[in-house]
Order: sequence, then structure tokens, then C-alpha cells
Amino acid sequence: MTSVTVLGIETSCDETAAAVVSDGTDIRSSVVASQVDLHATYGGVVPELAGRAHLEVLTPVLADALAKAGLDRRRPALGAVAATVGPGLMGSLLVGASEAKALSMAWGVPFVGVNHLEGHLFAALLEHRSLDWPLVVLLVSGGHTLLVAMEGPGRYRRLGATLDDAAGEAFDKVARFLGLGYPGGPAIERAAERGDPEALSLPRALLDQGLDLSFSGLKTAVLRAVRARPELANEDVAASFQRAVVDVLVAKTRRGAEAVDARGLCLAGGVAANGPLRAALRAAGEEMGLPVALPSRAMCTDNAAMVGAAAWWQLVHLGPSPLDTGADPSLRLRLLD
Ligand code: KG4
Ligand code: ZN
Repeated sequence: MTSVTVLGIETSCDETAAAVVSDGTDIRSSVVASQVDLHATYGGVVPELAGRAHLEVLTPVLADALAKAGLDRRRPALGAVAATVGPGLMGSLLVGASEAKALSMAWGVPFVGVNHLEGHLFAALLEHRSLDWPLVVLLVSGGHTLLVAMEGPGRYRRLGATLDDAAGEAFDKVARFLGLGYPGGPAIERAAERGDPEALSLPRALLDQGLDLSFSGLKTAVLRAVRARPELANEDVAASFQRAVVDVLVAKTRRGAEAVDARGLCLAGGVAANGPLRAALRAAGEEMGLPVALPSRAMCTDNAAMVGAAAWWQLVHLGPSPLDTGADPSLRLRLLD
């Protein structure tokens, strides 16, 4: 098969990203412009500001990604232009998707609309070439917490999901409550390094039941404990909270792996950058005799290389997307069954 190079664009939330990926695995460039500073003052992503910031920086980010890949920015040798079309913030999605469609028309190459969640699932495949299926993937991001059995690229079975808050959302809410700033995940992880994970006894919801998860009770328990004991050190609260989240995430992944007789474990999404979660999943894999595929930290949080990788697979196996593919803020992952 001839080589196909894809320009991927990601603007679903608060990172403006572009990447050039050849044949789904060869990352020739990956540029990410984070809007963290812009939203930090507000303690969370402000959708209006995010959309406007994407508009401002997308053109230079694209030029940078093409230049770093050694491509002519006026007429790059590409096989397709791809963008995330959902889920995410409507105004933000529209910026990337419209740009990708316009470029695909201008350059006469196919457009591929990518599901952001599928992008996260492909992040691990980018860096781990020889995987056995099924792989149980725990996808933990700011908006989603999903446990899937991946039977191969494009073949996903739902095992479980959060019944309320996403894991990343819980990190962000607890961090905001503790005054640790935004984004909450890295802030909690940093504070937890100096804390005692056993300082607070916190609930592990649904630990021994099924494959669904729940984090809203844990979040409330943290708020109650801190209000009742204001002398508690933030470091201890952060460490205890993080331990509770990691315990549940790893227990569910293990149970999921047992249920489908998995051949490996895998993490994806922004929360997958969390050091203690990575270490705990690695230990679980060792105990179960299963390989653990961890994307590098940069590949866990939002980026466009994962969009380029997912788009390549989609283009080869399902074909291009119609140019009237709309942006869908609540797009779901295509599941088997
Ligand atoms: O995948 P992502 O970059 O964006 C979404 O698609 O949502 O995930 C962002 C989420 C945020 O909730 C952030 O707090 C969390 O990932 N996160 C972390 C860490 N780094 C990012 N959570 C825990 N530990 C981290 N090191
Ligand atoms: Zn994401």
C-alpha cells in the first residue's frame, strides 16, 4: 500500500493542536498550543474564550506543524486533512473542523472527521506496535470515563462507564475546592507527592460491583471532610483523594480484563498522565501477567497526532468523511453490537 500522510487538527477543548502523521504511526510533527493560562484565571475552560483563541492560533500552529514535517505550507504532499468533530465544545470544534474542510477542498484531498474519544484510544497504538487483542482500555479524560474492550482498531465493546462525574472532572473539582488551581489533575498530583494517602478515609464507590464507576460521592466526601476538619493539609487531602480514584480505576480495569480474558491493559486520556495511576496499572499488569500499554504523557493529554493516527485508520478502512459532516458536541464512540 502506498504511504498516506495525514494532517490532523484538534480543537475540541482548550488545546489548539496540529500534527502530521504518516501511515497512522509515524509522527512527523506534533504541535500543541495550550490555553491553560487563558482559562486559569477563571478556574476552568470558558467556552467563548476557547473558541476565539483557537481562531487566533490555529493558522500559526498549522504552519508550524507543516514546517516541522518538512512540508510546503502552500501545497503540502498530503493524503488527507482530518479534524476532531466531537465530542467537545461546539464553538471550538467548529474552528478545527471548518479549517480542515476548507484545506481539504483547497488542496483537493479527502477530509476525515475524527471522534475525539477514538483519537485517545489510538494514542496508545501510536507508540505500541505489537499488541494482542482484546485489550482493555481505560479512557479517563476531563469529560469521559469509559472502560472498553478493544478487539482491534475500530472495534470497541463497552464494559463500563461513569454514572456521574468523569475522573478528570473529579480531579478538577476537588483541586478547585482546595484552591490548587486549574487544570486540577496535575495540581493534585503535585500536592499529593508531599501528602499521606491514608490521612483521610474516603469511599471507593461500586468497588466490588460491576464495571461502572461513580465519582460524585467521593468528591462530596472530600468537601465534607475538609469542611469538618479545616486543619487538614491540602497535601494529605490530595493524596487521599488520588489514592481513592486510582484504587477504583485499577480495580475496574482488572475486573474488565478478567471478564473478557484480555491480552493486555491500556490507558488513554488526560488522566492517564497521572504517575500513581500509571504505576498502579503497571503493577496490576505484572500481577496478572498482562502487558500494559501506556501512552507517553504528551500523548495522553489532547494532541493532534492521535487525530492523525485515528484518521489514517478510518480513511483506509471506512473511507473519507462527507464534507457536510457536522460538529457534534455529544458524539459517542461507535461501539460493536
Ligand atoms: O484528555 P484531556 O486532555 O481533555 C479532555 O478530552 O477532557 O483530559 C483533561 C483532563 C483534565 O480533567 C485534567 O485535570 C486531567 O485530564 N489530567 C490529569 C493529569 N493531567 C491531566 N489528571 C490527573 N493527573 C494528571 N497528571
Ligand atoms: Zn481529550
